[in-house]
Amino acid sequence: MNYEPTAKHGGKLIKIAPSILSADFRNLEEEIRKVEKAGADLIHLDIMDGHFVPNITFGPMVVNFIRLCTRLPLDVHLMIDNPDLYLEKFVEAGADYLTVHLEGNRHLHRTLTRIKTLGVKNGCVLNPATPFCLVKPVIGEIDLLLLMSVNPGFGGQKFIPSILDKVKEAKKFIRDNNLKIEIEVDGGVNSSAAGKVKQAGATILVAGDAVFKSRDYKKIIKELREG
Ligand code: DX5
Ligand code: ZN
Repeated sequence: MNYEPTAKHGGKLIKIAPSILSADFRNLEEEIRKVEKAGADLIHLDIMDGHFVPNITFGPMVVNFIRLCTRLPLDVHLMIDNPDLYLEKFVEAGADYLTVHLEGNRHLHRTLTRIKTLGVKNGCVLNPATPFCLVKPVIGEIDLLLLMSVNPGFGGQKFIPSILDKVKEAKKFIRDNNLKIEIEVDGGVNSSAAGKVKQAGATILVAGDAVFKSRDYKKIIKELREG
């Protein structure tokens, strides 16, 4: 599958990943088709277990149904304890990117390399309070660095601007070391935060409320990507 954005998106290498956490779950298939048609590059799926974060969403079965609704890559963000127990299940369900949090993971290097051997892209997620330096020992193993700009658990929270320095630090490190790692930012990304996030160096923007609570998905996706 081609993961690069095409010229129809203005030729910019910025990808927009709507988070379905904010979608109307009564019409999930329609919502997904609508964002796909509106120019989304990935579909961001938030998996929460009520332990790692104080909220519960859905598991591999629902991911599998979503796989049947779209051809877009599925960006699966695991906010669960013991992610190792479920990696195969999410890959079988159709994940294209599988991202795991650094926090609380005792064997992060093993988890990240296992995701790769399962044949999908891996990513490491840092909460707002986690410094970039902690991911350096495993950075050579990852495809994607996901920097949270809210504390995980809920959609519709306010963007935390202090993470912009972390995005810049990560971007500089990745560039200086000639690494091929995408930087994704997740949480409270709306039209006003998007510009700063891109300026700081992120190439994938997750947006839940900003997309699904807007009336015109195409307009907001364009705005987030190009504004
Ligand atoms: C928060 C999730 C986010 C969230 C983003 O725990 O990881 O993906 O759904 O939604 P907004 O853009 O509304 O903050
Ligand atoms: Zn997320």
